[in-house]
Amino acid sequence: MPTPFLAGNWKMNKTIDEALAFVEAVKGPLEAIDAVDYGICAPFTALAPLHDAVAGTRIKLGAQNMYWEESGAFTGEISPLMLKGLCENVVIGHSERRQYFGETDETVNRKIKAALEHGLQPIVCVGENLEQNEAEQTEEVVSTQVRGAFADLREDQVRDIVIAYEPIWAIGTGKAATPEQANDVIGNVVRATVADMFGTDVAEQMVIQYGGSIKPANVEELMSQPEINGGLVGGASLDPESFVTLVQVTYEVKIQNAGMGG
Ligand code: PGA
Repeated sequence: MPTPFLAGNWKMNKTIDEALAFVEAVKGPLEAIDAVDYGICAPFTALAPLHDAVAGTRIKLGAQNMYWEESGAFTGEISPLMLKGLCENVVIGHSERRQYFGETDETVNRKIKAALEHGLQPIVCVGENLEQNEAEQTEEVVSTQVRGAFADLREDQVRDIVIAYEPIWAIGTGKAATPEQANDVIGNVVRATVADMFGTDVAEQMVIQYGGSIKPANVEELMSQPEINGGLVGGASLDPESFVTLVQVTYEVKIQNAGMGG
């Protein structure tokens, strides 16, 4: 089983002070948790102070976006070189970036390649919107996104990637996919597409998260699904207590109840 990974996606939230207060609050309660990975994808401005604040903890740090060039005349952009050493992960192709900032499967592909080249672990987001879901195009849309994102990648590169399946209709709406729906798409579409491209071995050990309205009230049933290897959490990752609960429940469901640790 891949090591489960619960990541908070703070989006455009938290000042530096608020980010540091969060880490202070979750550090202690999370100390005892091993065998699952957990982390925060924070705004760029908070990454450097957070880098120091999480030293000595198991909290992984991630960025929420980056450009693919190393440097140059790209006003307002952040390069993989700038992130290297500050954080381990970078979210790539979040649906909000695709929707508001014109990202496409092609730009996602370029960003993934640049991230891997610089030792950053991408969390690649895929997912269908409501219209596509209702028209039963989920399989086609999501498999096309995975194929586009991973175009021209080598098998050894894909091994380092995390995918987050986030149905757009479930993001920030309070209405999560049912655990069965999420499990079905992750297993039969996302993992199956990776298997088709790179083999079942790579697909089986890939961390595939679910994202979209995960909260303390539904995290247990979502994490109980075998194909779901963790979560990418927006709103419910902003509050320290809620974040700790999400990580703890993931640990209980995936490790303790599965008799794999304790
Ligand atoms: P949400 O966001 O948990 O607030 O629905 C998830 C995401 O966009 O990553």
